Amino acid sequence: MAADTVSFVNHPALQRPKVTEREPLHPHNYRFGAEIPPASEVDLTTLDLIDGELWRQGKYWDRFERLRNEDPVHYCPDSFPGPFWSITRYDDVMAIDTDHKRFSSSWEYGGITLGSPISDFEMPMFIAMDEPRHSEQRKTVQPAVAPDMLKVYEPLIRSRTQGLLDSLPVNEPFDWVDKVSVELTTMMLATLFDYPFERRRDLTHWSDVATGMHNPDICPGGEEEWKATMMNCLMTFMGIFQERQQQPLKPDLMSLLAHGEKTKNMTPMELLGNVILLIVGGNDTTRNSMTASVYALNKFPKEYEKLKADPSIIPNMVSETIRWQTPLAYMRRTALEDVEMHGKTIKKGDQVAMWYASANRDERFWDKPNEYIIDRPEARRHISFGFGIHRCVGNRLAELQLRILWEELMERFEHVEVLAEPSLNQNAFVKGYTWMPVVLHPK
Ligand code: HEM
Repeated sequence: MAADTVSFVNHPALQRPKVTEREPLHPHNYRFGAEIPPASEVDLTTLDLIDGELWRQGKYWDRFERLRNEDPVHYCPDSFPGPFWSITRYDDVMAIDTDHKRFSSSWEYGGITLGSPISDFEMPMFIAMDEPRHSEQRKTVQPAVAPDMLKVYEPLIRSRTQGLLDSLPVNEPFDWVDKVSVELTTMMLATLFDYPFERRRDLTHWSDVATGMHNPDICPGGEEEWKATMMNCLMTFMGIFQERQQQPLKPDLMSLLAHGEKTKNMTPMELLGNVILLIVGGNDTTRNSMTASVYALNKFPKEYEKLKADPSIIPNMVSETIRWQTPLAYMRRTALEDVEMHGKTIKKGDQVAMWYASANRDERFWDKPNEYIIDRPEARRHISFGFGIHRCVGNRLAELQLRILWEELMERFEHVEVLAEPSLNQNAFVKGYTWMPVVLHPK
């Protein structure tokens, strides 16, 4: 971080937000604030990658490296979400992600995150369905993010980005996560859903709660508050869904779902599931990539110089950012039959975590995997969007938003300076940032 930081030491924007101390979810997990030993000192049989404290402290890279080298198909027998396998090498993650006949995403087996859904509160969504229902529903929403729609959105995204960037304080610290990353992605979501713009932060709230049931700073009332919030989201979207059914078809996501042959008769919980999928899919991921791009350019200042010398690298930099960050750290599958891998047998019914975060740092596949190299030749081969039939439906939209953000930033600012190490999510699924103070230096 640059020398200017000194002059902002007592600035309120530099006071790191307090995180509520929380109990570990499992007796084997690290206590809040505990000193986490290096991976070399850990007994592999008890290594549990789902431990939230590892994620809050950002202490997972050496664990992934050790697993890739010593135990690429790793069994964790005792964990909060139950026993599960961890797949950490690029080729192996790819093999499972493209093998949907033997590895299910279906919510009937538990869906795409580790553990079991809350009983009596199942939310079917098409990311957590197998064929043919998955493809039927996916095809219904695809037009909202198809290339012709992205052309329509581009000027709108640009003008909203410009408006936001022009409103930011200059030479004055502020939190990049809230003021830019959350705001831009929430604006985009409101546009995609054609949701009342002035109430757009509802979407941020629902998205945060959906993945934050065990986080007291997001959902202090735990499971009960989580259910109540989800029901509130459902009631709001039921109203919108019914309203769109009365109106002619438009290209927004709710209208497409309300008119789609395969979705117009969805049960309320299926509607809620798909709304949550689209909110979380479009929100947390892009938001954390936006923060990551600024953080990475500050950590690798030579890359920032490269970018200033040649802004045409931006599209490749966007892919490299998404690789380096890997906003969704893993996706879960359930084995539909016994599968042999690296001498181990994944048994029918077992939970399997495909760790995209690790695959994107696999030294067998990537040259200098831990470095952020904005002109990396094969950055687009990252696996952050998954692969196979569930590959992210919004990937081009996410790339577009990031590209526009950087084109507009380069027009205005000499430097977006990070003033302190960011605070991290305590979540093994949504890998991201909760706070990152910056200061803008105009051109
Ligand atoms: C699926 C990542 C942005 C909507 C996925 C999957 C991943 C992912 C890993 C699952 C892939 C699999 O299981 O093989 C990301 C990342 C993003 C991003 C890293 C940003 C950098 C978006 C956006 C939208 C979106 C902007 C919304 C408009 C979806 C949907 C699915 C999905 C609907 C389910 C696809 C299916 O099951 O067929 N995404 N996503 N995502 N994403 Fe994204």
